[in-house]
Amino acid sequence: MQIAHTKEELRSMLSPLRGRKIVLVPTMGALHAGHASLLRQARELAGTEGSVVASIFLNPVQFDNAGDLATYPATPMQDLETCDSCGVDVVFMPSSDTMYCADRSVSLEETHLSSVLCGASRPGHFAGVCLVVNKLFNLVQPTDAIFGKKDYQQLAIIRRMVRDLDIPITLHGAEIVREADGLALSSRNVRLTPEHRQAAPAIRRSLLSAGEAYASGEPVDNICAQVRRSLESIPGVQCDYVELVDAQTLHEVTAPHRLALLAVAAWFGDVRLIDNIELSRS
Ligand code: PAF
Repeated sequence: MQIAHTKEELRSMLSPLRGRKIVLVPTMGALHAGHASLLRQARELAGTEGSVVASIFLNPVQFDNAGDLATYPATPMQDLETCDSCGVDVVFMPSSDTMYCADRSVSLEETHLSSVLCGASRPGHFAGVCLVVNKLFNLVQPTDAIFGKKDYQQLAIIRRMVRDLDIPITLHGAEIVREADGLALSSRNVRLTPEHRQAAPAIRRSLLSAGEAYASGEPVDNICAQVRRSLESIPGVQCDYVELVDAQTLHEVTAPHRLALLAVAAWFGDVRLIDNIELSRS
């Protein structure tokens, strides 16, 4: 496995690999089993002929909250071991100064899908994601890229960016990886208090029972209210949003729908967790 810290190093490591599949997995580090699963899927997709590139870059531009950036876990040595054991060929690990010019003045904004769900409460977040992902696409020039479905809105926005800017990359969405008790894996889970860690699987449980209620014809408003009630009955938990949206447009649905997404963001103390479930009603 090779490690590139600069754009020049990355270019020279990638140049002999071009002409075959190059699968990119962008990450912000603090890799957990969910990332390992993305990396292994990338390895499988690339096959023995192709290559897997992982980027590890804690992108300051997408953090709307300085405290969240400052407390985001960083485990670079462990991350490199994870990449190596998952069959990554090249890791791109730039510093912030390497990635961004101090006087950068171009931004990139998706204006429709970004205005709802996490976008509504995290101004600038998705513009920062689009900017860094677009830069990574330009630097790595992968044939394929893999993103997890836990950040469902992020995946939808990146799909829109790829479509609208004619970026010649095939995107793949990977299923959410969970702890045995149902909590979706997240780099933020390590910051939960023991009480909140124990309570957090309630998110998955409430989404599953909402799925049953949806299938049995319960009105949409009741379903969202029930999820909110059950989560906010846990001490120290506050929902940011509980919304049922069209799985493609991410805009609210009020009536039964072909493919809907029930998405939740909730504060467990000062840790913001997100999760979602795809629902369909025949
Ligand atoms: O999902 C993430 O970890 C980040 O938003 C991404 C896609 C690596 C961009 O910084």
